[in-house]
Amino acid sequence: MLICQISDTHIKAQRRLAYGRVDTASALERCVAALQVLDPQPDVIVATGDLVDFGKPDEYALLAELLAPLRPPLYLIPGNHDERAALRAAFPAHDYLRQWAPFVQYAIEDWPLRIVALDTVIPMQSGGELCAQRLDWLDRTLSEAPDKPTVVIMHHPPFVTGIGFMDGVGFADPAPLAGVIRRHPQVERLMCGHLHRSIVQRFAGSVASTCPSPAHQVALELRPGGGDGYRLEPPGYQLHWWSGSALVTHTAVIGDFPGPYPFREGGALID
Ligand SMILES: [Fe+2]
Repeated sequence: MLICQISDTHIKAQRRLAYGRVDTASALERCVAALQVLDPQPDVIVATGDLVDFGKPDEYALLAELLAPLRPPLYLIPGNHDERAALRAAFPAHDYLRQWAPFVQYAIEDWPLRIVALDTVIPMQSGGELCAQRLDWLDRTLSEAPDKPTVVIMHHPPFVTGIGFMDGVGFADPAPLAGVIRRHPQVERLMCGHLHRSIVQRFAGSVASTCPSPAHQVALELRPGGGDGYRLEPPGYQLHWWSGSALVTHTAVIGDFPGPYPFREGGALID
């Protein structure tokens, strides 16, 4: 099974530039074009939050339009820039978004890897959390299929990254979540967004990771207050390949690069 992860698309209405500078609509178009020619095609695509920039209906309308060409089933979760009601309204065919109101939490059972989605949003705040209600849902949901390998998708990563500013708007109190994850060793991975970079940490006997953005990346500044800005570094997405026994993650960059060129000629390495 192949899962493609995209994150932090930050679409604005009328293709306005994010922060007056970043053409997030064109960036998502380039990302979608790159995904459409992947061979093999992903079985599913997950989009891990900050789908739009200000949670507005007209932003979601453009997002839906930009995502429409994608062929694999698409699973969306909200981030701190999203708004649950507007997200649900813009994707009426995405029934899973309504599995458990008011939160956008759901489980997808159709694939070799079970997908369990969490909603870390605190409305009108940049940081994230999982309240007792959401954690209880997670514990119950994971208990329903203890033998099925599972990935958890959530916007805010439940770990400190060292990028000080982003940690200040990070996930509050990871300990209770860690307690739940430790009880469910079938969780292969917690796939997150929010950081606009690829970052990995061991978490509660599993692995937590974040994904680059197809648009702008948070500045890599490993110091207090660092990361309160972005760079137009090469954009990207991730491919998570499930071999049947292990989940292997590849970070891909989006762009036109020369190649591939051969290593060998006539069966011998080119000297
Ligand atoms: Fe973001």
